[in-house]
Parts: sequence; C-alpha cells; structure tokens
Amino acid sequence: MAAAPAPGTAAGDLAVPVGRSVRVKVPGTSANLGPGFDTLGLALALYDELTVTVRAQPGVHVEVHGVGEGEVPTDESNLVARSIAHAFKAAGVALPGLELVASNAIPHGRGLGSSGAAIVAGIVAAKGLLEGIAELGPDRLLALATDLEGHPDNVAPALFGGLTIAWMSDTGPSHKKLIVHRGVSPLVFVPDHVMSTALARSLQPQSVPHEDAVFNVSRSALLVAALVQSPELLLAATEDKLHQNYRATAMPETHRLISELRASGFPAVVSGAGPSILVLCSDPAQRLAATQLVADHAETSWQPLMLAVDFLGATVHRVDGTP
Ligand code: HSE
Repeated sequence: MAAAPAPGTAAGDLAVPVGRSVRVKVPGTSANLGPGFDTLGLALALYDELTVTVRAQPGVHVEVHGVGEGEVPTDESNLVARSIAHAFKAAGVALPGLELVASNAIPHGRGLGSSGAAIVAGIVAAKGLLEGIAELGPDRLLALATDLEGHPDNVAPALFGGLTIAWMSDTGPSHKKLIVHRGVSPLVFVPDHVMSTALARSLQPQSVPHEDAVFNVSRSALLVAALVQSPELLLAATEDKLHQNYRATAMPETHRLISELRASGFPAVVSGAGPSILVLCSDPAQRLAATQLVADHAETSWQPLMLAVDFLGATVHRVDGTP
C-alpha cells in the first residue's frame, strides 16, 4: 500500500528538492527482556546519528564514523540506504541522489539493536525528506521497518522509545508504548565478541512443551507489571524458557555470567539475540554491585554500560532551508 500523497500533491509531481537535508537520532534497544521473545523491547540512551542530504548527482554515497567505520558498505547496499529506498518506494516517490553521513555508537552484532536502529534511521530519514510530499504515519513506519527487520521487537522501541509491546497480526505489526518505572536502572555488559541473530534463531526448536509456553506467558505478563509499576518483581519476571537455554551453547560465557548474576539476585537476561547481557536493576546502587560481580567472574573483556531508558525514540528534523 503506497503512502498517501500530501494534500494538494498529485502523484506525478512527487519529487524531493535537491538540498533538502534531515538529521536523525535513533536509540539502541534491548529486545526479549527475558520472557518476551520477539515481543518486548526497551529503548536505551545510546544513539546512532545520521544526516541525509538530497544531492543533484544520482546514486547514494555513505560516510560512516564511529562503529562500523571501514566495515559497513558505503553504497546502495548499505542497510540505512536500503531502508530509505524501501520507504520511498512505499511512498511512490522516485529515490533522489543521496549523501549519508552516519555517526554510530551502537555496537554491531552484540544484541543491542544496531540493525534495527539502521533500518529505523533510514525509514525516519525518508519520512523527514518526504515532509509535505507524502505522509508516513507511525503505523506505516513500524510496518516498513518490520518488513526489513523480520520481527518488530527492536524496531518498535527504536521508533517510539520507552518499553514497547509489539505484536504481529494479519494486518501487520502493532505496538503499545509504556513508560518504565523510574526506579528501573538498565545495565548492559558488552563483550568483545559478536553473535549472529540468524545463528541464534537457528538454534531454537520449532515447538516447545506446553508448560514452557505457560511459564513464559506468566513471566511476560508479570514483566510488564514489574517494569511499569513493581521493579521489586523483576527477578521472577525475567525468567524464560523459550529461547535463552536453547542458545546457550553459542554464547557460553553469556550464559554462565547470567546464571551467576541471577543466583546473586540480579535480574539478568540475554540482550536480544546476544551476546550482551542486560541487567534490569531496580536501583542505581544495584548496578555497581552487578558490575563488580562481572568484573570478578568474567574470563574475557566485558564493557559495562550504565544506560538510561530512552523515552523519545527516533527523532528527525530538517536542517536546510528548502521549501
Ligand atoms: N527477538 C529477536 C531474537 C531479537 O531474539 O532473535 C534479535 O533480533
């Protein structure tokens, strides 16, 4: 379904003027949060930033600074560029020549939503570039981002911020955003090694025992209450039987450290598909104790990141004077 042309705009007129430029900021995310596989996600105050400018020459040129510099493609095959192209196609507007300058802080391949952030950066940049030409509303943005990511649990919090519940139906993805209790203090441990989401997903069985499904239904429901209202329930609420154990062989140190953190009372889970660890501490002091535990027990290097919850999600604003 194409996006609606802006009022007073005929389909044949659709073109973005040369010189139009937008700046985008997108948070990292942690998905699953233990029991909420492919459903729950949390936006974290760790950001990728991007400037996109329409240029006269056709084609796409990408400049990357920070994470991914010298590693990610700098042509049309770049994930951000492909996401912009996807949104323009959906809007029925010809893709102009583009200059992209990215400044990235979200680690790649660590379970912190870097691919979701890249996709959301492109989709939201397209929304900004198409201002006054075609409208892309929140549901459409989520649908476009989920097309490319395959599941909505990272792209929903990257788009909307806070804690998101995302679900799929016959009409596509939907989401509900919730505001996290101010006592919740996320702590992430980022290892020096990566994990492939495709590999992690391949380790899961096609079906699970009914009692395990019931177990996760109860913990997911409890987790929403714990994150919004009752952080003291976070340890029980972050239990999971649907994905983490099946993936443990692919990230043994993640699994071991999570077991040790949980045995000491810290609500630790695999962040997304891993290998980072998310600890949903219920007060800032707990973060220091968890950091000490990991420093004492880790065999490889793990970087602790004390991150706030991002409540805003992706932002975009125009940085040019074109009409
Ligand atoms: N829900 C996803 C998974 C998040 O765990 O596979 C990573 O993209």
